[in-house]
Amino acid sequence: MNEAQKAEGLAYAERNMLEENSHLMLDKAFIETHYDLTGKKVLDFGCGMGGMTLWMDTHYNCDIKGIDIDANHIGICKILREKHNKGHVEFILQDIVQNPLDEKFDYIFLNDVAEHIQPSYLEPIFAQLKNQLKEGGVIFVSYPPWEGPYASHLNSIFKIPWAQYWPEWIMIPKLKKRNRILVGEKDLMSEYFELNHLNHKMLKGIIKKAGLKIERRMSHTKLNQISFLKGINLNFFPFKYLVTKELVVLRAE
Ligand SMILES: C[S@@+](CC[C@H](N)C(=O)[O-])C[C@H]1O[C@@H](n2cnc3c(N)ncnc32)[C@H](O)[C@@H]1O
Repeated sequence: MNEAQKAEGLAYAERNMLEENSHLMLDKAFIETHYDLTGKKVLDFGCGMGGMTLWMDTHYNCDIKGIDIDANHIGICKILREKHNKGHVEFILQDIVQNPLDEKFDYIFLNDVAEHIQPSYLEPIFAQLKNQLKEGGVIFVSYPPWEGPYASHLNSIFKIPWAQYWPEWIMIPKLKKRNRILVGEKDLMSEYFELNHLNHKMLKGIIKKAGLKIERRMSHTKLNQISFLKGINLNFFPFKYLVTKELVVLRAE
């Protein structure tokens, strides 16, 4: 990772840590509305560059740690942690399928992580995370569903929603032209092709095999900003194509 990438990563993570209005705005509002992490043991699985981990540490007096498999991301977490005197927060580079966890948590978060992991790997991850829940513990999963306008993760580049539905002969050359190394260990193209096309039906199948059930679901569309549609889950046809984010809470069956 060069100095420019380090600076870019740090600025991005710091925004997530300090500002409510980041790409995790809905996740933050959802947690604040429904859960109190104070005094709890929390795992931020796939913590990325650590902005959300440190946001949770700042908002709640909880015992939190972040885990990720990307060494560059964990590197940024550690820089951010030192900058904000958060030495008590642990950031770990660990693949839990190869090297399983050995402690239990009240809350486990996967914010914008599950759509990046192949189903054959996601199943053992959820099975293990379920076993690492304390009595009454929950797993929180958020992701942009594949039908939705931002599922391609390419909106900041193309500025046009639903890029995942463009014909490949239009999409691939455009993507090749704009391809760049990301702050983590991947480039834009490989990140796009590694997306698992996650939607609610697919998630339900994966978590069932892991012995988990859905306790709460919120499907967010921009229409929910209209006051009489606040809190209504518009996750049915044709509105499901407008869902920008699914927020789902899981419990052991
Ligand atoms: C889009 S980032 C989200 C980061 C962070 N949760 C956030 O919302 O800012 C997805 C993260 O999942 C991580 N990841 C992917 N597969 C993983 C795995 N098997 N174990 C742990 N982390 C993983 C990636 O390295 C990446 O940092």
